[in-house]
Amino acid sequence: MGKLQDKVALVTGSGRGIGRAIALKLASEGARVVVNDLDPEPGDAVAAEIKAMGSDAIAVNGSVSEPGFADRFVGAAVEKFRGLDIIVNNAGYTWDSTIQKMTDEQFQAMLDVHLVAPFRILRAAAEPIRIFAKKEAEAGQEVFRKVVNISSIAGLYGNAGQASYSSAKASLVGLTRTLCKEWGRYKVNVNCVAFGLINTRLTQPIEAQQKTIDVAGRDIKVGVQPQLLDAMARMIPLGRGGTPEEAADAVYLFCSPESNYVSGQVLVCGGGLIL
Ligand SMILES: NC(=O)c1ccc[n+]([C@@H]2O[C@H](COP(=O)([O-])OP(=O)(O)OC[C@H]3O[C@@H](n4cnc5c(N)ncnc54)[C@H](O)[C@@H]3O)[C@@H](O)[C@H]2O)c1
Repeated sequence: MGKLQDKVALVTGSGRGIGRAIALKLASEGARVVVNDLDPEPGDAVAAEIKAMGSDAIAVNGSVSEPGFADRFVGAAVEKFRGLDIIVNNAGYTWDSTIQKMTDEQFQAMLDVHLVAPFRILRAAAEPIRIFAKKEAEAGQEVFRKVVNISSIAGLYGNAGQASYSSAKASLVGLTRTLCKEWGRYKVNVNCVAFGLINTRLTQPIEAQQKTIDVAGRDIKVGVQPQLLDAMARMIPLGRGGTPEEAADAVYLFCSPESNYVSGQVLVCGGGLIL
């Protein structure tokens, strides 16, 4: 029996990178997972991988910023698995510029994906959680549910070129602490994990030609200058960027029963990096 046996976990942006590693980690502990990605192919592939591991999964793909997505996502979990135990708000990307070059569209896009989407998902989850918690309380049971919002050290300390991203990631900490206070009565642990440098598509070294990702038809540049990556690695006490699996392990801490009396906290997963 895994530590999350039969729990129902929702993980946004779980077709790749850290989200994928989180979905697989939770499934390896017995959770049934509602996978999501903007790109259907990786989303479907992760759901298939989880089923092949012997757990259960469905993919509810599409952008977390789409109107109606939150109800569709939460509704699918309740309908298919009759539960809602863990929500990880992970989906996101970066769209960087110095402030003088940053457009309104760019600033708003970061707020939409990193802040408004988690808010809508949690709002959609509020009523089902209230109903489950009421039934459990009436039966004399104390069942803990888990929310983990994914932030960044850019949200805690700021980062040049990321006025929009860091503002959204900082606000997510406010949302986390508020929901910790609103949902304590339903026994929901609401926490945040802020990553330092994790090696994924977002943080790949920029080579001669900068890579772009397609976000809803827009080509967005991703990647980090190799010199900056080297400088960061030197600043990280553990000497390197983290792997998606190491990042997922930090999220798992807040999903496990061992964190039942921890709420409203921000855990930095950055190899010791303190800015
Ligand atoms: N990699 C890092 O160093 C780092 C550091 C701090 C925070 N983070 C945060 O971790 C999270 C995961 O990032 P990653 O590094 O794994 O990136 P990634 O690009 O490897 O994976 C992110 C996944 O989210 C999906 N996605 C993007 N926008 C989406 C949307 N609107 N709706 C649904 N899915 C969407 C992408 O398609 C992709 O599959 C992000 O919130 C990111 O801001 C990452």
